[in-house]
Amino acid sequence: MTFLKGLLRYPIIQAPMAGGPSCPKLASVVSEAGGMGFLAAGYKTNDEMEKEISEVKQLTKKLFGVNVFVPQKSEIDSPVLSSYIDTLESEADRLGVSLGEAVWDDDCYDEKIEYLLANPVPVVSFTFGCPPNGLISKLQQRGSFVIITVTTPEEAEIAFKVEPDALCLQGVEAGGHRGSFDDKDVPGKDLSLLSLLSAVRSNIDLPLIVAGGIMHGRDIAAVIMSGAAVAQIGTAFLRCTESGTNQFQKSAMADPSFQHTMFTRAFSGRKARGIANRFMLEYNSAPSAYPQINNVTKPLRREAAARGDTGTMNMWAGQGFRFAEELPAAKIVERLVRECRQAFDEIKTKTHESII
Ligand SMILES: Cc1cc2nc3c(=O)[nH]c(=O)nc-3n(C[C@H](O)[C@H](O)[C@H](O)COP(=O)(O)O)c2cc1C
Repeated sequence: MTFLKGLLRYPIIQAPMAGGPSCPKLASVVSEAGGMGFLAAGYKTNDEMEKEISEVKQLTKKLFGVNVFVPQKSEIDSPVLSSYIDTLESEADRLGVSLGEAVWDDDCYDEKIEYLLANPVPVVSFTFGCPPNGLISKLQQRGSFVIITVTTPEEAEIAFKVEPDALCLQGVEAGGHRGSFDDKDVPGKDLSLLSLLSAVRSNIDLPLIVAGGIMHGRDIAAVIMSGAAVAQIGTAFLRCTESGTNQFQKSAMADPSFQHTMFTRAFSGRKARGIANRFMLEYNSAPSAYPQINNVTKPLRREAAARGDTGTMNMWAGQGFRFAEELPAAKIVERLVRECRQAFDEIKTKTHESII
């Protein structure tokens, strides 16, 4: 395994998952188990990020990553945004909360970057945009391995030019927000993981980390056979013992009355995949306005999550959510490795003629 100078034992990264799931305990357990854990700095203050980094450092000496949201200013249709917010008033009344302010913020980006430059961590990854080359090289000079998330071949070309150490290709199957550089709806943006990998691997000479719908070790074998270096896995860890996922979401993931995932902008104003529920279906025409809508719905989401109102809370998860198991994270890593090895062993016992 040449990825990350041989420091990563298995080609498994626990995906950064903001909003609670990828807490220090989960990240450190996955790193100790031979994969690599990730902290999600998104939605946190710089102090909160700093605290989580020190916690992970106390728990493991192994590699771990920190994921940062790249801020972006996109054009907002203000009248459409206002009328969407008006429709949410009845939800707020029902839950006894006031809606938040429809303000833009940069998710404390500059402070977080300043901190990460002054206090380097082994791996830094970016999502929602492409940082400039100057920043990437500064982080690399301080010893961090830098990853940029992309969702299309075009984004991969842009990211390649700023010279990161690896790309993370996020397929349409993935849970949580699309890591796209913008939130525009244009054809060709929602590629499945294998289509994206096929399109990128031939012209980008960088290690490719792939994410989206990887739930079993056999899936890891498949993406590695298809040219990926490492599998980045989120949803499969959502129900595990150490993850900070809301308990009601953990139960909903095993509840047969929740059957599908879908994309929505209803909670945040940015396209994200979650378990389809009443709120997503009712507000499925929500406009693109991130992070304004995210700030507006924050009190709603918090109250719904505290009450276990699974019809109203956001439950980010990928298409494979039904296969997420309630097990210690180390057991999940162990299972993924065992299944992946089995898949490669099976292939070895077959002749070319019996396959193709
Ligand atoms: C609950 C949740 C939160 C997420 N938050 C982030 C995040 O903060 N940063 C990021 O780059 N990706 C985030 N993602 C996307 C994951 O990093 C990854 O692309 C995805 O989980 C892979 O697909 P899978 O969920 O099918 O395994 C999130 C995903 C989930 C499920």
